[in-house]
Amino acid sequence: MSTCTQIAAELTAPGKGILAADESIATMSSRLENAGVSPTADSRRIYRELLATTPGLSDGVSGIIFCDETLGQVFTDGRPFPQAVRELGIHAGIKVDTGAKSCPGLPGETITEGLDGLPARLARYAELGATFAKWRAVFSISGRTPSWGATVSNANGLARYAAACQEAGLVPIVEPEVLMTGAHTLADCAATTATVQAAVRQQLAALGVDLAGIVLKPNMVIEGDSCPDVSDPEQVAEATVAVLRAWPAQLAGVAFLSGGQPPERATANLAALQQHQTPWPLTFSFGRALVSPALAAWHGDDLRYRDGQSALAKHVTANSAALRRRADLQSA
Ligand code: 13P
Repeated sequence: MSTCTQIAAELTAPGKGILAADESIATMSSRLENAGVSPTADSRRIYRELLATTPGLSDGVSGIIFCDETLGQVFTDGRPFPQAVRELGIHAGIKVDTGAKSCPGLPGETITEGLDGLPARLARYAELGATFAKWRAVFSISGRTPSWGATVSNANGLARYAAACQEAGLVPIVEPEVLMTGAHTLADCAATTATVQAAVRQQLAALGVDLAGIVLKPNMVIEGDSCPDVSDPEQVAEATVAVLRAWPAQLAGVAFLSGGQPPERATANLAALQQHQTPWPLTFSFGRALVSPALAAWHGDDLRYRDGQSALAKHVTANSAALRRRADLQSA
């Protein structure tokens, strides 16, 4: 088994998912500010240490994704983040894209950038102790988007990133996100997600990416946040799995983003997904659905540090329990 295959299997091990704590400095700073915390390098460090040191976290979390700033920071006891997290039994990951940027020729759409100098950056991250990476491309649904140009260009970026990661011995998390923003229906989301994922599959194949050594991080198939017809978890699960069925069995696993769903809804949808037999594990790689309650409970108050950790633990436990329902079904 190659290193990437082994790590990808560990990231998607039964009952475990990934914690996305890789907000950029700008996004993290504005979330801290909204929670009443002064946004500094140290407050961002303290907050990420709070998350990572949540007691029992490794029972439900196989890996944590960080941003460049955090990967170079240290725990309060002086240990670098990647080492300290590894000693907790958790893989350290790194977001390596440099963001979704507007693109000439594609008005109103974005292309995710970050390929320049990527192999050298990956080598440095591997040396620091990262074992996996993340790259996110975004697609929004409107009358005329996503265009074919944006779809293919983003899919090509994801594939070039994934090939570079595997060459560097890092597992690529491949994240094509169809955004929830808008009034589109569940059927609209299904059609767009299928088209986007088909382009990603085609580009991954063109660059010889080994699917057994990647984790796919897609959106769940769900209606837009201003669509009046709200689907239930069974509908979301059925539509999501129907789209995913186009992926071959060798894909290591699927770890969903939460995409702005309320935490409880994301967990209920994840539980419903476990009712479907699939050749690959279906787990979580949630950001907001895990960290928002923790930030709200802590909000920078030393006396509420444990409350922040309890809030994270509660949501990790609920999502891990949802995954264990699959293990129960399969052993029944
Ligand atoms: P959300 O779960 O908040 O969508 O974030 C996941 C993520 O990693 C976005 O890139």
